[in-house]
Amino acid sequence: MFSRRIAVVGAGYVGLTTGACLASLGHSVVCADTNVEKVKRLRSGRVTILEPGLEKLLVEGMAAGRLEFAASAREAVSVPDKPVEVLFLCVPTPMGATGAADLGPVAAVAREVRDLLPSGCVVVNKSTVPVGTAEATRRLLGRKDVAVVSNPEFLREGSAVEDFLHPDRIVVGCDAQDAAEKVAALYSKLGAPAVLTDAASAEMVKYAANCFLSMKLSYVNALAELCERLGADVADVTEGMGYDRRIGQAFLQPGPGWGGSCLPKDTHALLQVAAGVGLDFSLVAASLATNDRQRTLMVDKIRTAVGGDLAGQQIGLLGLAFKAGTADLRGSPALAVAAELHAQGAVLTGYDPGVPEGVPGVTDAVRVVDDPSMAAKDAAALVVLTEWPEFRALDWRALSSVVAERVVVDTRNLLDSDVLRRAGFSWIGVGRR
Ligand code: UGA
Repeated sequence: MFSRRIAVVGAGYVGLTTGACLASLGHSVVCADTNVEKVKRLRSGRVTILEPGLEKLLVEGMAAGRLEFAASAREAVSVPDKPVEVLFLCVPTPMGATGAADLGPVAAVAREVRDLLPSGCVVVNKSTVPVGTAEATRRLLGRKDVAVVSNPEFLREGSAVEDFLHPDRIVVGCDAQDAAEKVAALYSKLGAPAVLTDAASAEMVKYAANCFLSMKLSYVNALAELCERLGADVADVTEGMGYDRRIGQAFLQPGPGWGGSCLPKDTHALLQVAAGVGLDFSLVAASLATNDRQRTLMVDKIRTAVGGDLAGQQIGLLGLAFKAGTADLRGSPALAVAAELHAQGAVLTGYDPGVPEGVPGVTDAVRVVDDPSMAAKDAAALVVLTEWPEFRALDWRALSSVVAERVVVDTRNLLDSDVLRRAGFSWIGVGRR
């Protein structure tokens, strides 16, 4: 069977998913991370991120002898008798102070491994990096016999394994055709269309896709506001739009604003990159401004729902994560709304099925509880901020007897308004009639 020896540097949700999935495709993979505790946990077959299917693949990969872990990139590429053929860079590229991507972690790994890579090895950049990074990495490596390829990932948190194993496309960019083909062949079992291009174009694809998605969401959030003002219903409008195959139904759900650790970062980065070459990409800037405004609109909605003043009002929050299916709080619109509610004097109790009490990352503004009825207790309003399906199945009749006022502001249009009304609640959605 066709199999390569692969090193994956960075065992975050992208790196770990990449490593475990490549092992499941039959490759021999070593995953490196500098967090010693994490490596120890992974070696014992435990995954701490909430990612369906990942732990199973991890355990299977290790049992089959195709997946192992190392505590540094250096260690990963120095396993005796197992010369690395392909090295994936899956390190974070956080947003720097200016909004541009910080390439420090990529550069650090390049320096660490440059003298250790065997001749003919291919270095693959999977992290979202500005156009030109493959070229910069090639210079940092300073090795004529090692090609650098850009192979952006399109995984969503919460469905990363599914996305990896059933991709819409594989994008591989390199100025050396043979290296690009070698990387594309790693995924050949998946049967997805492969776009082989130059490194700069491949790097651009990732930003282009994420910014397009964020614009789609800002557009739908602005449409929701317009629907409210004109007495139209955004759910029917998006359904009517979405049947158009050129538009599609996906990513048409209005919400409290889009967030997470990717869309905001990449949108800011694209703006920076454009500004760097003198292009005023006002379309993207407007998408960001619309997103900031969306949070304020949600706070206004909640303030109106509790009678016009948030000071001293007890508000129960349902959902804290940036989207359902993940415990990730980074860039969470729910937390942004909570911060503004808190600033206006509201007293907040929050429940999220993925976020345990005492979890780091939640501001002091929110008291996190582990039961939705505790979040509802004495609340002047309940606010749905994350679209966890289990919120639909809550016992709304029981909740109606613990709240102070039977008001629900549903920023995700998640709940069944009829069920809520039958339980005595007034339900306020986004852009709904
Ligand atoms: C996003 C992209 O969807 C992935 O393709 C990409 O690989 C990833 O970024 C990345 O760059 O690593 P992710 O950050 O996991 O994935 O989250 P999304 O599922 O895209 O959701 C982003 C935000 O949009 C969330 O706050 C979500 O609640 C919101 N959203 C999404 C809506 O408000 N409405 C929708 O209809 C869809």
